[in-house]
Amino acid sequence: MNRIPSSEITPESIYLSRRRWMREAILAAGALALAACSPASLSGEEASSPPATPLPDTPNTYEQITGYNNYYEFSTDKEAVAGLAAGLITSPWQVYVGGLVNKPGTYDLDLLRRKFTIEERIYRLRCVEGWSMVIPWNGFPLAKLLAEVEPTSDAKYVKFTTLYDPSQMPEQNSPFYPWPYVEGLRLDEAMHPLTLLATGLYGKDLPPQNGAPLRLVVPWKYGFKSIKAIVKIELVVNQPTSLWMEIAPNEYGFYANVNPDVPHPRWSQSSERRIGELGRRPTLKFNGYADEVASLYTGMDLRKNY
Ligand code: MTE
Repeated sequence: MNRIPSSEITPESIYLSRRRWMREAILAAGALALAACSPASLSGEEASSPPATPLPDTPNTYEQITGYNNYYEFSTDKEAVAGLAAGLITSPWQVYVGGLVNKPGTYDLDLLRRKFTIEERIYRLRCVEGWSMVIPWNGFPLAKLLAEVEPTSDAKYVKFTTLYDPSQMPEQNSPFYPWPYVEGLRLDEAMHPLTLLATGLYGKDLPPQNGAPLRLVVPWKYGFKSIKAIVKIELVVNQPTSLWMEIAPNEYGFYANVNPDVPHPRWSQSSERRIGELGRRPTLKFNGYADEVASLYTGMDLRKNY
């Protein structure tokens, strides 16, 4: 099937054709938990009562982190992604950084790894579907790369784009998504010290299923903001439209800050299932990073800006 340019499809028709397709896929697979961040998903993650006190965070195992993935370019079956993505060519890899900057450039990933100190950051990752993990990432702050290119005073947002290569990413042949995967941040969110460009986890290079060789990690936002296999970073004046906003703007907003008080239209966000645990734990505002990031949203209505 050929890719239909998103300009030729209204969001509603994508949504409707996708719903139809998902229903068929669910029937075909006989699997209720097939879909992930999708508007047609059956979340299967809905809450029972969360425990009253916060629970300790222990990193998930390497096997859990690399064996349960959302990566729609390969599959909606989280446990199939690792196998299907294994052959992705991740070296050599270049990322273009440009747009409203004084010094646009195409960077070789090997050069970036040498240029910036690779740090370890252990972050919670909370998927909009209601599951979470704790992941020891390796990487460098996005702010360091942005400083290199010198954003101009017109730059207000940062737009990220995933590799578009249907020969390697088979689901990019599906017309039901407006490929390539795109995400965005406000410039101050992108410059925040918690915002990471990850190149590894558990001290090893990122495996393909986790977004090799370069993926974004924004720990206070739902996991879908943390875009994988980045090839382009652009400084722009207008708020970028992400893939999920384009598919279902009533369900997925630009901000996507983790917020237990703002339910997804089809399920509660008040609690989550930590992968590897039984039961559920309460979801924390800004995924537990409120002290660091709440000030970015002073005066904003977080229900409207979901
Ligand atoms: N990036 C791309 N390009 N394609 C995707 O399907 N899925 C997102 C995000 N980044 C996705 C993506 C979602 S929904 C989540 S929850 C996280 O990746 C999952 O990251 P992980 O598989 O490393 O846990």
